[in-house]
Amino acid sequence: MSDALTYIENNLGRFRAELYDFLRIPSISAKSEHDGDTRATAEWFADKLTTAGLSAEIVDTPGHPIVVGEWRGAGPDAPTVLIYGHYDVQPPEPLELWSSPPFEPTERDGRIYARGSADDKGQLYMHVKALEACLADGGSLPINIVMIAEGEEEVGSPNLVPFVKAHTDRLACDTVLISDTGWFSQDLPALGFSLRGLAYFEVHVHGANSDLHSGEFGGAVMNPANALSQIIASLHTDDRRIAIPGFYDDVLEWDEATRAQIAALPHSDQEFAVGLEVEALAGEEGFGTLERLWIRPTCDVCGILSGYTGEGAKTVLPNHAMAKVSFRLVPDQNPERVMALFQAHVDAVKPVGVTVEIRELHGGRPWKASIGGPAFEAAADALEEAFGTRPVPMGGGGSIPIVVDFEETLDASALLVGFSQPGCNLHAPNEWLGTENYEKGIGALARLYHKLGG
Ligand code: BES
Ligand code: MN
Ligand code: MN
Repeated sequence: MSDALTYIENNLGRFRAELYDFLRIPSISAKSEHDGDTRATAEWFADKLTTAGLSAEIVDTPGHPIVVGEWRGAGPDAPTVLIYGHYDVQPPEPLELWSSPPFEPTERDGRIYARGSADDKGQLYMHVKALEACLADGGSLPINIVMIAEGEEEVGSPNLVPFVKAHTDRLACDTVLISDTGWFSQDLPALGFSLRGLAYFEVHVHGANSDLHSGEFGGAVMNPANALSQIIASLHTDDRRIAIPGFYDDVLEWDEATRAQIAALPHSDQEFAVGLEVEALAGEEGFGTLERLWIRPTCDVCGILSGYTGEGAKTVLPNHAMAKVSFRLVPDQNPERVMALFQAHVDAVKPVGVTVEIRELHGGRPWKASIGGPAFEAAADALEEAFGTRPVPMGGGGSIPIVVDFEETLDASALLVGFSQPGCNLHAPNEWLGTENYEKGIGALARLYHKLGG
């Protein structure tokens, strides 16, 4: 173990340079013009797994490839840990808001700025370097490793579920270890106990067969922009609950022990609001901010489009309006049922004179773990040794849809050990990963692998 830590210490400069190479390839899964870059990233990554001492295979899918790495040197009686992460990234736009270009990694103020630094290339690569350090110079591990790096997480993992289902023997494991979440605050590490699910739709409202003069026709023909606004306004009550009948039926009342742990975390609404430069926070009545973020569902318009939005005024009734509407889900909700409830609600409230079409974009089930247990404690010990601070349990507001599928299909439990810090601009301009978290995190992971060996 101490050999691995010395190896890390002696190779930090190279570990950072390699991460920069990884970050330079624009593996934007959503854009087909980057399909070649995404494949090149998979190849680059597979090569680094081989260098680290694992076998590596690139598995083609109808979409972007899955990279599978394996090291079975601990023998058939030892535990197996499946490490999962994603090498694809979100589109970088709007480019003009980046202080340095998204695919030219730049270090400023102890932070590595680049698209994918935090989500998730930086965190994924920490595992590769931790494995390299453990296996270098004839080193060994007390656990077998299977690594899955996918290239489609940011587009909903459409090809990963079939892959996992088709390879349950090869992927059999005791623990699924994921570094794709973050810390509670700048200097307080965290271990994840939940992730929200997702049900994401496009709502299209169609009106007349053409745009119309708003004076000649306005008042006699239903305007799709008005109709869509009416539908959107019907989604919430005045106390900011979701107004869709039946929506809360499957929402789990979280246990008091977890709610008490959440309440004990060092959170300040005041600081949170100041950091965001908003006058006040707003959310469902009866719950604190952290509960609203982690254990309560949401409904949000993520995009809206209709009519004339150019310079000046154009007097027109648009004949089409569209909104992207996302629901974050909590246990025991599921995306199929939410879609059915949403469809029924829209059918009921939609005004006459327009047609409404709902298209499904993404679905993902929520995940919940119990806090504690040997793997959780091992991770807490590893983080405390590496960073000097014991992690707190933390919920996740975002989604990693594959987590529940891993647990169900492989009969394993997930362990979320993330390293990004609040304010790191996930999916936004100027995404960053703390250099110290990258470097010390590699040591934390090397320690964790050893502890998971029992
Ligand atoms: N790493 C994030 C998920 C995340 C972020 C979990 C912050 C907890 C805290 C992941 O890459 C992500 O962005 N997921 C998407 C899922 C979607 C594209 C299906 C999300 O949450 O929007
Ligand atoms: Mn991610
Ligand atoms: Mn993401």
